[in-house]
Amino acid sequence: MTPEAQPDQTGTSEAEEFADVDDARRRLGDVGYLADARMATTIFLQSRLGKPVLLEGPAGVGKTQLALSLAQATGRKLLRLQCYEGQDETKALYEWDYGKQLLYTQILREKIGQVVEDAKDLDEAVERISRQDSIFFSERFLAPRPLLQAIASDVPVVLLIDEVDRADEALEAVLLETLAEFQISIPEIGTVTAKHQPFVILTSNNTRDLSAALKRRCLHLFLDYPTPERELEILRSKETGLADALSARLVEVVRGLRDLELRKAPSISETIDWARTLSVLGVTELSAEVLAETLNVVIKYERDNEKALKALPRLTDPNAAVPDSRGGHGHGHGHGPGADHAHDDAPPPPPPAALDESGADGRAVRAAKDDPGRHDTDYYGAPGKGAAPKRPVPRSQGERSFARKRPV
Ligand SMILES: Nc1ncnc2c1ncn2[C@@H]1O[C@H](COP(=O)(O)OP(=O)(O)OP(=O)(O)O)[C@@H](O)[C@H]1O
Ligand SMILES: [Mg+2]
Repeated sequence: MTPEAQPDQTGTSEAEEFADVDDARRRLGDVGYLADARMATTIFLQSRLGKPVLLEGPAGVGKTQLALSLAQATGRKLLRLQCYEGQDETKALYEWDYGKQLLYTQILREKIGQVVEDAKDLDEAVERISRQDSIFFSERFLAPRPLLQAIASDVPVVLLIDEVDRADEALEAVLLETLAEFQISIPEIGTVTAKHQPFVILTSNNTRDLSAALKRRCLHLFLDYPTPERELEILRSKETGLADALSARLVEVVRGLRDLELRKAPSISETIDWARTLSVLGVTELSAEVLAETLNVVIKYERDNEKALKALPRLTDPNAAVPDSRGGHGHGHGHGPGADHAHDDAPPPPPPAALDESGADGRAVRAAKDDPGRHDTDYYGAPGKGAAPKRPVPRSQGERSFARKRPV
């Protein structure tokens, strides 16, 4: 079975194999992805152990990009299954091309008429038509979706299953079976087994807990916001045009913003965008004013904007005054670590996790947010109103492709 199959020009040549961890790191670097030792080791191992990699972490830390870069670095074709709520297995595995079937029956109307022409009753006509089933439920009328495409591919592929946490649990079970066996059975046609084991990358933004069974089958890698050194390195590699010293300061400011209790913390991609913006504007000094004017590049919610505007003077200069947004007095000192005091007219203090003691990269803030099941339909780490109700999933989900009883 060769849906979308190309002649095997790349072959399964050794070129796509990583020689070792350093080779993986170097080749990802060559295509613009700066992997740290942990990432490079995981990527090297998945290529050798044939295990999928599950990448978890906040938005914009390079999860999807890692899969795209892996495909580029290995010369493999990329197949992508973008997950969403309510998605059913036909969009992940395969479906029958009803339109094409219909078109063929229209065109072949006369021929079909001949088949049933001399049937003595309806029963016999139906019986004769059903004998032709295999024609209409054959590869010709099959529309393979990413999972089947990956399994059936004649060339080695990288299969990206993006934002798997957005899919329903029933689809997760389908994935589980496919990833466990690297084969898919199509009742009308038979079982399709992978010729080349795909490199599989799953990503999740942690909007819901994934099943232990899925996690068990994967190499797990948590991608967090990078260290300042690595973020600066990424900025440099993107050639944003912003001077190095300013880029380094910008990275610090962004890290400060990540420490605030924001609905959507700025990610690496936003740091890149901000650097490009400042460069285009010809900025030579990172003042609170110039950052405030361009804050919309990194801040996406009005509520976050207020918080960020308030924090900018402190982030650009730790000794600067923090303006009182309610028209009260300005502080003659920063609210850095240890600035733990109250004013009668001051706004209520932020929750403890939002204070600077949370650590430079906001780890504690995110840890406090990482409350399984607290999310509803909000996305990107937005505080939810409680666990989302489970969507009803048809019992038939998965039955057509997997005869075995699936794990619950
Ligand atoms: N290690 C890295 N090396 C080079 N670029 C990076 C790296 N990490 C992140 N980036 C940059 O950050 C951008 C955003 O990454 P990506 O879209 O992969 O994030 P994500 O984690 O998939 O986010 P989301 O959860 O929103 O889908 C990429 O386009 C890339 O430019
Ligand atoms: Mg992504």
